[in-house]
Amino acid sequence: MSVLDRCYNVADMRELARRRLPRGMFEFIDRGAEDDEAIANNQRAFRSVKLRTRVAVDVSVRSTETTVFGRDLGLPLAIAPTGAAGLVWYRGELELARAAARARIPYTLASRSLTSIEDIAREAGGILWLQLYVWTRREMSLALVDRAKAAGFDALLVTLDVPVDPNREFNRRNGFSLPFTATGRAAIDMLRHPRWLAGVIGRYWANGGMPVFEAPDKADNVTWDSIAELRERWPRTMMVKGILSAEDAVRAVECGADAVVVSNHGGRCLDAAVASIDVLPEIVEAVGGRAKVLLDSGVRRGTDIVKALALGASAVLSGRPGLWGLSVAGSAGADKVLSIFRSEMLTAMGQVGCPTIADLGPDIIHRPSLRSARVAA
Ligand SMILES: Cc1cc2nc3c(=O)[nH]c(=O)nc-3n(C[C@H](O)[C@H](O)[C@H](O)COP(=O)(O)O)c2cc1C
Repeated sequence: MSVLDRCYNVADMRELARRRLPRGMFEFIDRGAEDDEAIANNQRAFRSVKLRTRVAVDVSVRSTETTVFGRDLGLPLAIAPTGAAGLVWYRGELELARAAARARIPYTLASRSLTSIEDIAREAGGILWLQLYVWTRREMSLALVDRAKAAGFDALLVTLDVPVDPNREFNRRNGFSLPFTATGRAAIDMLRHPRWLAGVIGRYWANGGMPVFEAPDKADNVTWDSIAELRERWPRTMMVKGILSAEDAVRAVECGADAVVVSNHGGRCLDAAVASIDVLPEIVEAVGGRAKVLLDSGVRRGTDIVKALALGASAVLSGRPGLWGLSVAGSAGADKVLSIFRSEMLTAMGQVGCPTIADLGPDIIHRPSLRSARVAA
């Protein structure tokens, strides 16, 4: 029995990842900011959405297939950009991108990755999105945009929700920093995880040395003018990520965004941030079909995806689960996470009487607040 056979859900995968990774690395991925309140709230918010079942529907054949931005996807899901994939597994970005291609879902390469745009395009293929930070040294961001265009990336996803460095005390406590340095507490932590040390860092050293992040760390004071400027430069699909208000969503659409990603960065920036699923309905309403609305932050079950789609999202993004899978078994671990999401979705879709993605709509959402508003009116 392989270790993956013992993973029945994403939480199991997280637990295995916790055992495999050095503590500083695991917490860098797993935790949020300050007191991890936003992470807990993301989970609470998903749980508080309840589904109404529709019965006596023929659900013998169900499908998670959908079309987003003209591309057929195996699931209404994309791999969210995460700067750490190459540190939890040797050439982790490539392995995650390959798993995404096999599942026929988009892979988003973070601009602060250890693998280059060109290597991902050449060696992984599939549907590729590039995440972009607009840095103070603007020309570095624009150079990435041009390289992604030349390499055939399908979409640009501009992240707006890191205007200042988040307060992540646990990283300082663990002695963990990026670019990765092995000093003090972090070095002891690494030595206590020889399998990770040999399998990841050892393999980099054996194959030419530790790759370095190509991009700087500091985000710019990005404004809507930058979005309009990027719109001019990028001819394909452009998304804006980190939207939590209807006003900002409308502004993004006015600047030419094809989609907004409702996100609190997985609770990693502002610990008091509202949960994305809570603000999704008002954003969907404000956008009014002029652009697509995607969502991330806290998706851990197939039912979470069903809820987001029923509330108007075209697809969701997932960050940590893929990294946990990757940490446990590389590409095969990421495959497993995606297959868990898929099978949980198929079960949920059967239970709510919606055999296709197009069937998922607001009628399956139970929201007491709306009901009481109606009664009061
Ligand atoms: C380790 C880690 C690194 C991340 N790095 C980036 C990044 O470089 N750019 C970005 O836009 N979002 C980044 N994110 C946020 C994800 O894209 C995504 O918004 C978040 O993980 C979604 O929440 P989830 O982990 O609950 O699925 C990162 C998330 C994690 C966990």
